[in-house]
Amino acid sequence: MEQTDLLLAIETTCDETAAAVIEGPRPPDVGVPWVRSSVVASQVGLHQRYGGVVPEIASRAHVRQVLPMIDEALVRAGVALAEIDAIAVATRPGLVGALIVGLTAAKALALALDVPLVAVDHLEGHLYACQLAHPDRQVYPCIGLVVSGGHTSLYRCDSPLESTFLGGTTDDAAGEAFDKVASLMKLGYPGGPALERLARGRNPRAFALPRSFLHDDRPIFSFSGLKTAVLYALHGQNARSDEVLLDETGLGDLAASFQEAVVDVLVAKTRQALVRSGLKRLGVGGGVAANAHFRERIAAMAAGLGVDLFIPPPSLCTDNAAMAAVALPRLHAGQVADLDADVTAGLVRPGRKP
Ligand code: KG4
Ligand code: ZN
Repeated sequence: MEQTDLLLAIETTCDETAAAVIEGPRPPDVGVPWVRSSVVASQVGLHQRYGGVVPEIASRAHVRQVLPMIDEALVRAGVALAEIDAIAVATRPGLVGALIVGLTAAKALALALDVPLVAVDHLEGHLYACQLAHPDRQVYPCIGLVVSGGHTSLYRCDSPLESTFLGGTTDDAAGEAFDKVASLMKLGYPGGPALERLARGRNPRAFALPRSFLHDDRPIFSFSGLKTAVLYALHGQNARSDEVLLDETGLGDLAASFQEAVVDVLVAKTRQALVRSGLKRLGVGGGVAANAHFRERIAAMAAGLGVDLFIPPPSLCTDNAAMAAVALPRLHAGQVADLDADVTAGLVRPGRKP
């Protein structure tokens, strides 16, 4: 009879407290894991008034939410804690205090249940969401693009656990640019979805905004100049006054023009990486991949190159614990964490072992 492993996964890298129960074949059986349950408690309401994530508030909210989320994930999966075979937790990259809450909960559970603890990379998880969402198709090897609030990075991914960093942003991440521009336009936090709504049906060519490194053959991104250009479009050259110079139509057109500039660069740089690598598969993950206009444009580019595109549904693009299913291949490769495992705030280039 086929044997499976039941994994309890915890995600607390930034401002979502999430837990999931995942089931997957135990070697020698092979196959892609499936999600039994996945729950997310968003902290958006807590951070909104500050226009961004406040790390201390995030940590405290994780402390309150992590056990209820774990209970909820177990109940929804119909699984008892005693049936869990391993605990997975994202230990990098993220906010230190936030990461520590998830790791501490994971360690306590692993110790109490006497099961292995598996540390996962949040970005590796964002890309593995492509495989979870397409269990019948082979995603790897592929070019991986992570576009989130903290990262805009291209990878060559040879397997779920073996990736090479090709290049990333030199300043803001794409999601961060959405959030900052939305904040300039007083759209609230998080900015991505609000800005996308405002841009819908508006003219993406109304404002000539910069597209940094578009004609540079290095796999690098920059969005800070674009943000400044939006500031000047809103308040005039050098932003000498606080007065907003645009009417409602102008604001919609500016949102559409900004979105178009970000998407143009993301699509062009990803195309460049695909052509250069010769790979015929593309996996995309992270919150910005929930953007409908980006999804349309990246799909058209991939189709034009004859490349298979793997992009999860929006709920698996934004932060969640289900993507920590990447812990199962790690577990089966014997990459288990010790109880003295620590968190890492910054980027650990995938490919380097924890
Ligand atoms: O992956 P994620 O949930 O968290 C990080 O790992 O950072 O990504 C969050 C980011 C935020 O910057 C948010 O504004 C952006 O993803 N985002 C979007 C959309 N939905 C979320 N950006 C553009 N359009 C969207 N629909
Ligand atoms: Zn993320």
